[in-house]
Amino acid sequence: MSDKKTTGVAPAAPAAPAAAARPSCLRGTGVTKVFGFGETRTVAVDHVDFDFHEGEIISIVGESGSGKTTISKMLLGLISVTEGQIDFQGKPRDISSHKKKNEYWKGIQAIFQDPFSSFNMFNKIDAVLLDCINMRGGKNLPKEEKVRLMTEACSFVNLKYAELTNKYPFELSGGQMQRLMIARIFLLKPKILLADEPTSMIDACSRATILDMLLKLRDEINMTIIFITHDIGLAYYISDSVYIMEHGKFVESGGADEVILTPKADYTKRLISDVPKIYEEWDLSTV
Ligand SMILES: Nc1ncnc2c1ncn2[C@@H]1O[C@H](COP(=O)(O)OP(=O)(O)OP(=O)(O)O)[C@@H](O)[C@H]1O
Ligand SMILES: [Mg+2]
Repeated sequence: MSDKKTTGVAPAAPAAPAAAARPSCLRGTGVTKVFGFGETRTVAVDHVDFDFHEGEIISIVGESGSGKTTISKMLLGLISVTEGQIDFQGKPRDISSHKKKNEYWKGIQAIFQDPFSSFNMFNKIDAVLLDCINMRGGKNLPKEEKVRLMTEACSFVNLKYAELTNKYPFELSGGQMQRLMIARIFLLKPKILLADEPTSMIDACSRATILDMLLKLRDEINMTIIFITHDIGLAYYISDSVYIMEHGKFVESGGADEVILTPKADYTKRLISDVPKIYEEWDLSTV
């Protein structure tokens, strides 16, 4: 455990054991995405290199339009990579067929900003969770075992299974729905979870709960979590490693302490100075 100190940015959560000791699970070399041609050509992600390790929480931090969602979609295999290579668990990633893609998706799953868009609203909550058990090959398990697994997943996220059966996702609050998303992840147990701004649509109290659940997934299941955010304070709180993204490039990366306590790039320094500090008077005249 590293002894993260607190700064004006945010109190830090306990870190995972040293990254160097753990194998690489997702590595990228020169990864690039170009949208459009001619006048509409946009280089959304520009030759980025990264190496994410097992059981590590990695934040990708940048402002709106910096390329965070584009890189997430490439990592998930939802859009093609224009140039560069992605290695998954030490081998070149192969998602060239539907079957191979499905196999890859057993290893990487995502939760998104808007939990309301992530569920089929006409499926009851137990059907949502049962689907996950079936996807993990548990289709023929006895009913009692399925109920036990669903109860365990709900209690992992502090929800009560007995109160959720027969409810529809739209009957939950945003925070509860995001917790249900994490219960799904608990059942699916992917190697890697990609979380794209998962707390930006929920209140501060639910946000802290969600962040703590992500830490629990790392600590109890050794999951690798890629946390996408524009908020460097949240990134410091939760991450072992941080990649700072500006205009499609990683301008700085390293351990969370190193990048945030001793930033080198001007852009990182600016992101840190933009975090309001509660003990300073706010100057709203510049807003
Ligand atoms: N399908 C697309 N076609 C054309 N351009 C795109 C497409 N998707 C993204 N872009 C462009 O790529 C750039 C990066 O977008 P991206 O959505 O990755 O940013 P982001 O960092 O996720 O921003 P935000 O914080 O607002 O979610 C932007 O200039 C965007 O307009
Ligand atoms: Mg985005």
